[in-house]
Amino acid sequence: MASQNIYILAIESSCDDTAAAILKNDTLLSNIVATQEVHQKFGGVVPELASRAHQQNIVPVIHQAISEANIDKKDISAIAFTKGPGLMGSLLVGTSFAKSLALGLNIPLIEVNHMQAHILAHFIKEQNFKTPEFPFLALTISGGHTQIVKVTSHFEMEVIGQTIDDAVGEAYDKSAKIMGLPYPGGPLIDKYAQLGDPKAYKFTKPKVGGLDFSFSGLKTAILYFIQKQVKENPNFIEENRNDICASIQYTIVNILMDKLKKAVKETGINEIAIGGGVSANSGIRKALNEAEGKYGWKTYVPKFEYTTDNAAMIGIVGYYKYLAKDFTDLSVTAQPRYKI
Ligand code: KG4
Ligand code: ZN
Repeated sequence: MASQNIYILAIESSCDDTAAAILKNDTLLSNIVATQEVHQKFGGVVPELASRAHQQNIVPVIHQAISEANIDKKDISAIAFTKGPGLMGSLLVGTSFAKSLALGLNIPLIEVNHMQAHILAHFIKEQNFKTPEFPFLALTISGGHTQIVKVTSHFEMEVIGQTIDDAVGEAYDKSAKIMGLPYPGGPLIDKYAQLGDPKAYKFTKPKVGGLDFSFSGLKTAILYFIQKQVKENPNFIEENRNDICASIQYTIVNILMDKLKKAVKETGINEIAIGGGVSANSGIRKALNEAEGKYGWKTYVPKFEYTTDNAAMIGIVGYYKYLAKDFTDLSVTAQPRYKI
């Protein structure tokens, strides 16, 4: 362990949140996220608008992170940034900014994989939160990804299952859109689901082999179901909103849990951590909690503010890479399809 404190400035700009954080070793000092409202009226993220908003937000967000951490920029030991995966235009804003600031301050630059960061978010030091033990399985569920990852160490990760089409967050958002709910619809479906009957309507689960997932068929099934019902009763959605949401949530949570059970069986690992925006979902949290008693799993759910995109998770990867002296040179560029 280094005797001196390490201060990491972390920058995240992979999708539609501009975020910056300061960590002192593995402890968070500040965590600022500017969520871009501009996409709401389009029902999804518009890449060109996202990169423009990142350009507007990045300086104030970083300033605020440094000022709330109560440090001086001279104190920063290294800059960690999201290299990918994500939207090219969005990633470029954070990458270019991180490179120039590292050059200006003459400090090391650290590239971070966004998906690895969703997993390592569990290692940010927090009171009352336990850290998973290696090896563990990570279920990363977000608007862009759905993966089961076998995690052997902070840096050794193997994707053992993933979606072959839509991500689970997309399934939530697209279902919400079909129901006329605003973007991002995941949290709203979750909210109404808690008031409805999960067995009111039955949607068939996709048949995908191994540990892979598929969500595009479910979205189509929901679309056809709603269209048919609305033809018979134009008020169908309003009258049954809670039950529809509860049934969608029940199906999605079952799909995720079935694959997790299979992964546990195949790997013999029963330490399970979740990450990514959809890990804020009450249904998956409840199902994991129940699995502790039912199957003897040990489950780890991140603190709410580390579930959706944030820079704190980029910072914790930065900290571990700093300890390993795993730095990046200034020729680095953004990589939209950066794999774990
Ligand atoms: O990780 P994230 O912030 O961004 C990506 O990297 O994609 O995840 C955003 C996704 C969106 O699809 C959003 O609808 C979903 O996470 N989400 C939820 C909930 N909170 C966020 N989905 C279901 N239930 C929630 N409570
Ligand atoms: Zn994410």
